[in-house]
Amino acid sequence: MNDTLDITINKAAQSKLTVTDFSQLPFGKVFSDHMFIAEYDNETWSNLQILPFGPIPMSPAISALHYGQAIFEGMKAYRQADGKISVFRPEKNLERFNKSAARMSMPAITTEIFMQGIAALIEIDEKWVPAQEGYSLYIRPVMFATDPYLGVRASDTYTFALLTTPTGPYYSKALKVKIETEFTRADEGGVGFAKTAGNYARSLHPFAEAQKEGFDQLIWTDAVSHEYIEEAGTANLIFVIDGKLVTPSVRSTVLDGITRDTIIQLATKAGIEVEERRVSVKEVIEGIENGRLTDAFAAGTAATVTPIGEISYLGKLYTLTNPETRTISRDIAKTLNDIRYGLAPDEFGWNWIL
Ligand code: PLP
Ligand code: COI
Repeated sequence: MNDTLDITINKAAQSKLTVTDFSQLPFGKVFSDHMFIAEYDNETWSNLQILPFGPIPMSPAISALHYGQAIFEGMKAYRQADGKISVFRPEKNLERFNKSAARMSMPAITTEIFMQGIAALIEIDEKWVPAQEGYSLYIRPVMFATDPYLGVRASDTYTFALLTTPTGPYYSKALKVKIETEFTRADEGGVGFAKTAGNYARSLHPFAEAQKEGFDQLIWTDAVSHEYIEEAGTANLIFVIDGKLVTPSVRSTVLDGITRDTIIQLATKAGIEVEERRVSVKEVIEGIENGRLTDAFAAGTAATVTPIGEISYLGKLYTLTNPETRTISRDIAKTLNDIRYGLAPDEFGWNWIL
């Protein structure tokens, strides 16, 4: 890291740690004591601060609210076996954040602000990194447009923030998912590859409809034919077909997941063949029926590695192999967690030890 930045620190008068139940941590509801903020104006980031987590004053005219210039990221800090804290591959999140920013006509955040902001925030809220197995401190970088102006054009001013929330896995059981064939999440030339608010906003109605029918998640298909699988609403998808790891290739409509990339590297190292290609719905359904598809899971930072237990397609429900018997995803998830928690050597240099 280059020069040490000047970050103003305004500590919370009282910590919420004593009133926080670490055995009850629903995803994204409990925030640590502090947040990090930086402001962009005149083509420069300044006013770097750590302050108590809480409301930020803003005009109701800010363009993020009206025209959706808002991007975010998600990564996790882990309490390692020796007590140290590590953040998993944050430079990949920074890279993706700035790709999202470019597509949304927003300024890049600097490496120094991103990394030193995380380090400073976690240092001050160090006790918020849970020690329980499977738990971590989720870090949510977000940037939004703050010009109080209703004309449609890219904003000149922005706020960047880092929030942290202690959490367990997003999903607690094998997923029952529906292959979506009416609505779409992303289309060619659009913003599917960017982690921008609108991608999630447009998924909410179809997701709510699916939830009413008893599903935990949607599997999105391509916008043109609905014949190819893209990803889930909160994670990438990986299948095991004929003993090979098969995952939809990353394209302009699919988020380039860091967990997905990590799993591909771990599987390749373990001698498992990996295919990144278009994956048809037909192949998945036939694979379930003829037994060639032996594993399927969602892979994401919040979602971790979550098995898919049932898939519905055109009104018919298909039950996959019993998740308890699936060795490939179980072994990969264990290796991944062992690296993150410092229980296995970090051969790829993924852990940023703070
Ligand atoms: N796809 C979507 C739509 C997501 O929201 C996420 C979560 O960040 C992912 C995939 C997985 O990405 P990552 O593994 O980088 O968390
Ligand atoms: C993440 O895994 O970081 C995500 O952003 C998924 C989600 C909860 C929106």
